[in-house]
Amino acid sequence: MQFGDKIIYEIYIKSFQDSNGDGIGDIPGITSRLDYIKELGADYIWITPFFVSPLKDNGYDISDYYNINPVFGTLSDLDVLIFEADKRGIGIILDMVFNHTSTEHEWFQKALQGDPRYMEYYFFRDKPTNWDSKFGNSAWEYVPELDKYYLHLFDKTQADLNWTNEEVRDELKKVILYWKNKGVKGFRFDVVNLISKPETFEDDEAGDGRRFYTDGKNVHKYLKELVAETGIEEYLTVGEMSSTDLPNCIGYSRKENRELSMVFHFQHLKVDYRNGNKWELMKPDMEQLKKLIMEWQNGMQEGNGWDSMFWCNHDQPRAVSRFGDDGKYWKESAKLLATVLYLMRGTPCIYQGEELGQPNAYFTDIHQYRDVESINYYHILLQERKTKEEVLQILAERSRDNGRTPMCWNGSKYSGFSTVEPWLPCRCRIPEANAEEERADETSVFQYYKSLLQLRKQYPSLSKGRITFIYEEYKNVIAYERTYGKETKTVICNLSGENVEVLLKGSLGNILLHNMEELCIDGEWLVLRPYEAIVCGEEVFGK
Ligand code: GLC
Ligand code: CA
Repeated sequence: MQFGDKIIYEIYIKSFQDSNGDGIGDIPGITSRLDYIKELGADYIWITPFFVSPLKDNGYDISDYYNINPVFGTLSDLDVLIFEADKRGIGIILDMVFNHTSTEHEWFQKALQGDPRYMEYYFFRDKPTNWDSKFGNSAWEYVPELDKYYLHLFDKTQADLNWTNEEVRDELKKVILYWKNKGVKGFRFDVVNLISKPETFEDDEAGDGRRFYTDGKNVHKYLKELVAETGIEEYLTVGEMSSTDLPNCIGYSRKENRELSMVFHFQHLKVDYRNGNKWELMKPDMEQLKKLIMEWQNGMQEGNGWDSMFWCNHDQPRAVSRFGDDGKYWKESAKLLATVLYLMRGTPCIYQGEELGQPNAYFTDIHQYRDVESINYYHILLQERKTKEEVLQILAERSRDNGRTPMCWNGSKYSGFSTVEPWLPCRCRIPEANAEEERADETSVFQYYKSLLQLRKQYPSLSKGRITFIYEEYKNVIAYERTYGKETKTVICNLSGENVEVLLKGSLGNILLHNMEELCIDGEWLVLRPYEAIVCGEEVFGK
């Protein structure tokens, strides 16, 4: 609840703003755009990792936790950013990648030389298990010099750290203390529910291995220890939870447990995976989406957990392309999606460009991709005997690069992001979807986001009230009431491209926000048009 009226804005540093003409976003670039972020209404900025790294996974492969990759700037650039952000009431959240390090990290390099102390920092084993890496192929890599295999749940250049080793845990606490002292206000913990591995490694006869390390035995204990010993209980801390479940997420985020202040989980973003497989295309199952959202909202409320609510991030294709309609109803559906999630119980996290209604990049050529996961899967899917056209079609929908193209600041050649060809091609496919034009247009997606986030801050019901779902029986409708004391606000959303008629249970009261010009009411029936979203409620005076 502490963060119920706060808004997080996620910046993918490589693609946000280049300040020195090398085609790569950087820290001074972020500083130069603080006023924009403030105007939107954000209180915190989560910046993806900018630490020293070979950038095989764009910074999620850290080789030095204490220094900044020169391509992104310097420590003094960061000091300036923290200072300038603070002046505007914005806190900086750093991304802590503690499940693994880059294989170029000094610890791993020493381990490779056979130093037993550092071999204990990772998982070296004589025999691999049959587990899959999340980026494709085996999760174990053979090292001929040692005649051993090491565990990597992600790319083979990202070796998993051994959290059972107290020395590793102490090293990671030092990293937090170091950045905490620089004045940052929060931490995001990358795939943090994977840190507790089993005591013995065995083959998974029924799956890819994840059941052995997801929400592992000691994960809650490790988090409690990390948080207590670094004194970050009151900070904004958000854990990224991979393939998790509701009881664990309650555990991670309920205040009494002193673990994290909130969690990111992804159940709602798998409703377009055929049989749970990201690389098999399927239209989103919107009823399933609705069911999952309700289940988690209700469950987290009952268990006193706390979510960070999000549609997009740097690992996801753009929501308006997945769950909305990035053609005919582009604007309406972009606004609808914001209304669905960001007035719910939880802290909204908006990903750069989402507030402009940015659609997918839809690349058509493998050479346009940079993402290690996409490139790995391109080869894996070809080996599975899919045609090149099929594979490109899958990547166009599913690649993480869909969300990573440079920010569309204006209509110029490199979209105001850079003065040179950027590291990943610009794809501002909807001409008016850029910050300059949307800031000037009252009807834009950007203005709608701004109003919506303001509402959230203005009304205690929306920031800290109870949530109750209503009109559940209507297909494609997701609707809820938020209540706090005498105050109630109602949100009614049509998730589909068809009209839906809803028999009203009472008066709507004042319209506080609406993505269309006027309501369409027919007697006691409210006719919801494609992707219509309504926020309403009576004004209450006094308590
Ligand atoms: C998280 C990050 C993602 C990264 C992975 C491995 O899921 O968000 O970008 O590739 O962890 O660190
Ligand atoms: Ca740069």
